[in-house]
Amino acid sequence: MADDSASLPVQLAATTLNDTVSSSGVPKAEFSDRVPIRAIVSRPDGGAGLSGQRVRVGGWVKTGRKADKDAFAFLELNDGSCPGNLQVIVDAAVSDLTPLVPTGTCVAVDGVLKLPPAGTKQKVELRGEKVVHVGPVDPAKYPLPKTRLTLEFLRDFVHLRPRTNTISAVARIRNALAYATHTFFQKHSFLYVHTPIITTSDCEGAGEMFQVTTLINEADKLEKELIKNPPPSAADIEAAQLLVKEKGDIVAQLKSAKASKEEISASVAELKREKENLAKLEERSKLKPGIPQKDGKIDYTQDFFARQAFLTVSGQLQVESYACCLSSVYTFGPTFRAEQSHTSRHLAEFWMVEPEIAFADLKDDMNCAEAYVKFLCQWLLDNCLDDMEFMADKFDKTCIDRLRMVASTPFVRISYTEAVELLEEAVKSGKKFENKVEWGIDLASEHERYLTEVKFQKPVIVYNYPKAIKAFYMRLNDDCKTVAAMDVLVPKVGELIGGSQREERYDVIQQRILDMGLPLEPYEWYLDLRRFGTVKHCGFGLGFERMLLFATGIENIRDVIPFPRYPGRADL
Ligand code: 4AD
Ligand code: MG
Repeated sequence: MADDSASLPVQLAATTLNDTVSSSGVPKAEFSDRVPIRAIVSRPDGGAGLSGQRVRVGGWVKTGRKADKDAFAFLELNDGSCPGNLQVIVDAAVSDLTPLVPTGTCVAVDGVLKLPPAGTKQKVELRGEKVVHVGPVDPAKYPLPKTRLTLEFLRDFVHLRPRTNTISAVARIRNALAYATHTFFQKHSFLYVHTPIITTSDCEGAGEMFQVTTLINEADKLEKELIKNPPPSAADIEAAQLLVKEKGDIVAQLKSAKASKEEISASVAELKREKENLAKLEERSKLKPGIPQKDGKIDYTQDFFARQAFLTVSGQLQVESYACCLSSVYTFGPTFRAEQSHTSRHLAEFWMVEPEIAFADLKDDMNCAEAYVKFLCQWLLDNCLDDMEFMADKFDKTCIDRLRMVASTPFVRISYTEAVELLEEAVKSGKKFENKVEWGIDLASEHERYLTEVKFQKPVIVYNYPKAIKAFYMRLNDDCKTVAAMDVLVPKVGELIGGSQREERYDVIQQRILDMGLPLEPYEWYLDLRRFGTVKHCGFGLGFERMLLFATGIENIRDVIPFPRYPGRADL
């Protein structure tokens, strides 16, 4: 990865490039009146070289305690800029200490950095001279006490959980992986394309989409309105019709009696008013509560987009249209799947990185996927080692070694047929799987993990899957049984990436859509890409949260996305 070493370390950039220097010479946060704690404790000397410098810091108290008969307080302060805390010592003469010490309190302090007494673990501490801000916490009510909390417990407090060491480390690793993603693709001249969140095409053809509709809110609104203001009855309408007739008769009488122009105009105006009133009543009498129907089906022409629309399951189809003119592109955004999966690897809303490359085939696709995953691993080793060390200490002793191994080891590449043969051999020698192994099955997570964790102990790319278990857009191979698909399997997670060479032949893809029982109409625009200037192309999708699971060793995908959405839960 020699050529990558020139790229800027993400978090160092935040403290060395963008920062101005405080009056004391310590780099200050830009747009924020303080020195980030990282600029002090994450220095190679742990901050010792800054002794004597005057700084302002701000953060949240991790642990606080009064000491020496309440003469002063020790505060372990963290501002999220790094896993490390800065120890702040505040004298009782400087501030009332009681509101400072509860865990979770926000404190900003001006003070002088000093070397601590010999034998203490920190390399520098801050002697507070002035407390400039206190955001107090009532410890009796604060939901995150100092004791060790399980990740499951923390899911009930998604708004406060970034205060914990684990979730803040995950947030920094997630940020680093996003930065690394853009760096990798930009470095390789891929163009970043924003694909839509709302779409009318089902990319995977699996029917697992969340529908986007205003028909339900409109129906709710109408129902409430009709309760408040009931529609006119038949009698109301009859009475209004009678009034129209009466007023019409009066106009006729006045005209035949040659009444004055003024009299006639006045009665014509009255007639017009009654006619308008009748029209309004007739219109309201047609209002029916509930969702509009036509021919016994929901009438989507009355919906917001005048047709059925959904949240996207993948930006692939749309990004393909940009690849088919801009050549190398990628999209990176949230995707949504309404599958009832309660596993530790599935979310209803997750982020996907999807490159798409023109003039490229399955082999190019695998090369790109492998280079990208390696780049991400090396990036974390180069830029997030402190957070990775925290993860290794608390969650998964092997996570750093795993990153090193993946960054430096060529991925195994085997065909689906070979993979099934290896699994069958394993079964013969006594390995028990819950799911049956035979050619044609969709590999289950246990199969994928056996291949990558037991058999090869490194990432494995499985390619050329049976066409029956893969999406319609994958290129049909010459055997007419398999498609040019590839999945990247990694230890700890199983499937990290799914991709393929795309079917570029118009007739073949049209037939595949029909064979899968999908309607052609929503895909006509996609077929245009094959009708007009078709090109060999390929791409893949990397599940961003799966990458985080792989990197951190955290067990449940709900803990590596800030606000997890899964069946039964969408907090905040
Ligand atoms: O294999 P998938 O379904 O592929 C696609 O969506 C393609 N359209 C991508 C492309 O070729 N541009 O999903 C890609 C990856 C999976 O390998 C997995 O890592 C992740 O997305 N993924 C999920 N992650 C979390 N929760 C879910 N419910 C996921 N479903 C897929
Ligand atoms: Mg897949």
